[in-house]
Amino acid sequence: GDPRLQGISDAIRVVPHFPKKGIMFQDITTLLLDHKAFKDTIDIFVERYRDMAISVVAGVEARGFMFGPSIALAIGAKFVPLRKPGKLPGKVISEAYELEYGNDCLAVHVGAVQPEERVLIIDDLVATGGTLSAAIRLLERVGAEVVECGCVIGVPEFKGRRRLNGKPLYILVEPRQ
Ligand code: PRP
Ligand code: MG
Repeated sequence: GDPRLQGISDAIRVVPHFPKKGIMFQDITTLLLDHKAFKDTIDIFVERYRDMAISVVAGVEARGFMFGPSIALAIGAKFVPLRKPGKLPGKVISEAYELEYGNDCLAVHVGAVQPEERVLIIDDLVATGGTLSAAIRLLERVGAEVVECGCVIGVPEFKGRRRLNGKPLYILVEPRQ
């Protein structure tokens, strides 16, 4: 494997019982503080995506915003934020999704992504896949071609991949215990 991945994994802090009992929270803020690990993370995504004719990187609020723009700049793509409800001032298209408790929603500005544009979706972590599957549905509704979803961390037990309807999912590391 890529020797940079161990350093990336090591830079992610694990916080037990946050935000509630039983959850091993994967804190990527410590990765952002580690210049080498942060740069390696961005570089690995850039090496994978720079020659895939991607014109849009779509980042999922909030933690997808911490990785998506750097990747977009490096591969020569636009950055489009997929935002939680009530945050975007223009006309939006929204897609609801289920969480463990309750529902949430992602919205995109109408016109931010043109039909048939090739889009890469970036988030920090995939667990159940509910968030990414909503992001895929949202972008496909505006006619975009979702090339792949890229995440720093993938939680294998949740089998998030299954919810993505065969859409490729690229992850760098699994959660630390
Ligand atoms: C977390 C994480 C992913 C999502 C993954 O975001 O950043 O976006 O959950 O979970 P899933 O695969 O089960 O959908 P969260 O909604 O907690 O909000 P944040 O990014 O705004 O902190
Ligand atoms: Mg998130």
